[in-house]
Amino acid sequence: MTFKGISVIAIDGPSASGKGTVTQRVAEKLGFHYLDSGALYRLLALAAMRQQVSLDDEAGLAKLASGMDIRFEQGFIWLDGESVDDAIRTEECGNGASRVAAYPAVRAALLDLQRAFRKAPGLVADGRDMGSVVFPDAALKIFLTASAEVRAERRYKQLMEKGMRANIEQILHDIRQRDERDSARSVAPLQMCADASLLDTSSMTIVEAVDEVLARFRQVCVR
Ligand code: DC
Repeated sequence: MTFKGISVIAIDGPSASGKGTVTQRVAEKLGFHYLDSGALYRLLALAAMRQQVSLDDEAGLAKLASGMDIRFEQGFIWLDGESVDDAIRTEECGNGASRVAAYPAVRAALLDLQRAFRKAPGLVADGRDMGSVVFPDAALKIFLTASAEVRAERRYKQLMEKGMRANIEQILHDIRQRDERDSARSVAPLQMCADASLLDTSSMTIVEAVDEVLARFRQVCVR
């Protein structure tokens, strides 16, 4: 199904499941736009920490979310005119993002911003509630996951490659805690929606996962 003829592929799933990389590559292959919705929650956590807005202050965070000066340009993410790609990828920002994302007022404040990414010729969006809340009419909904251990290993390797210090036990602990918080919250919890199809990448390479998403998209297009 399309909105003004613009197809959306919604890719939801837990942290470090590889959905960011898969989503980006699927978007590139199709020439579609790309939305990394988790980055918005990370940006909000970073902005709150910088402006000393408490992560317990739902109304203050929602206000901050509506007024954030953010841009996705030239492959980089900008906050208040500063490139913040590395700053938002820290574990601290990830944990902060998971906390701010639990507030209904914050999620509501970020809804229109996310929907504005739907532009021709199409969009591939990754997050937790892309198929259930933000783009319920998405042409294809994928729930992409992998075991917590595989995800911890992937995140560990990513951090090491970036020269960041990391402890795999701590990462596994954080991943489990974040899964728990993201799944247990009352608004838009992390869960596979009824019309999504499961893709478990525990024993798949990125290339195999990308090919699988493209194959499933081709199938819905010919229907
Ligand atoms: O995908 P990520 O790890 O960058 O997401 C960071 C946090 O933001 C994650 O803990 C859950 C939250 N999130 C969300 O609640 N809804 C989304 N659509 C995307 C992310």
